[in-house]
Amino acid sequence: MAVAEAPGKVIISGEHFVVHGATALAASINRSVRVEASHSAKPEVVSNLRDGESLLPAKKLLESLYRERKVAPNVKVVITSEIPDGAGLGSSAATMVALTAAVSLLEGWYRDMPGLIKAAGVGEKLVHVNPSGIDVTVSAMGGVILFRVGQPPQPVVLPRPVRLLVAYSGRKRDTGRLIAKVSSMKDAFPALFSALCDSATLASQMSLDQLLKGDAAALGKLMTYNHAVLGRAGASNARLDGLVDLCIASGCLGAKLTGAGGGGSVIGVPPENGAPVVEKLKKKGYNAFITEIPCGGVRAWIASS
Ligand code: MEV
Repeated sequence: MAVAEAPGKVIISGEHFVVHGATALAASINRSVRVEASHSAKPEVVSNLRDGESLLPAKKLLESLYRERKVAPNVKVVITSEIPDGAGLGSSAATMVALTAAVSLLEGWYRDMPGLIKAAGVGEKLVHVNPSGIDVTVSAMGGVILFRVGQPPQPVVLPRPVRLLVAYSGRKRDTGRLIAKVSSMKDAFPALFSALCDSATLASQMSLDQLLKGDAAALGKLMTYNHAVLGRAGASNARLDGLVDLCIASGCLGAKLTGAGGGGSVIGVPPENGAPVVEKLKKKGYNAFITEIPCGGVRAWIASS
């Protein structure tokens, strides 16, 4: 049996605008998806979380991986996810990356990192229609990455780990629909949208500078600024705005929606002692946790079944 584990992700700056050419800053987190692949008489995909319908992209990716090699997909895939579906934390990308890595290892199909990202990206497109590729790239490579479509991803080395708060709003989001919603602003106001893309690139670079300096207060302020801009562009809603306010009122130095928005999750810069913030959010019914970045990327190995 071949096993692979791939992490989820948070976008620290630049979501949505990255689809239109801006630079984004993202990091893998300490929650992952595990895929076990073993040979079987017929193709089978099972999961601890996903219903039949949301397993369809994984099934289609599996078929496409085997079709490419002109072999029958006689494989059983078991998906176990620690990342809620639709939480904006990259669960579908992590599934595609782990599935591609596990099946490739099982079949002896060698893939380098760009090859793995490309193959997993085929599955991600089935879920999100027009993704930038940032989610699969971060899940595969891990760490902290500056990402721009059409350019090689730039891994960032942090001088010391940084803690981020992650809080799931409890509302599933639909990334494809949100991308279309924010993109419609580009059609209505092309010059304004282009200026927002330039400003997102600047905000990503400034957020990176603060991460490197370890200036939590400035990073937090940039997050809150980014949230306001994403809200104006149509990615937020009352629940997410309320969650950002709650994170800040509970002690975070700043917070923002992360990923597509419209539901999904919020990230924040926790104070020195983040545990009370997590407790407050949990008491209000939110699934919250602290992740330290950098975390690793995909790992795959052979195990006895
Ligand atoms: C989703 O995690 C991030 C978006 O920018 C979409 C994408 O880049 O593929 C909203």
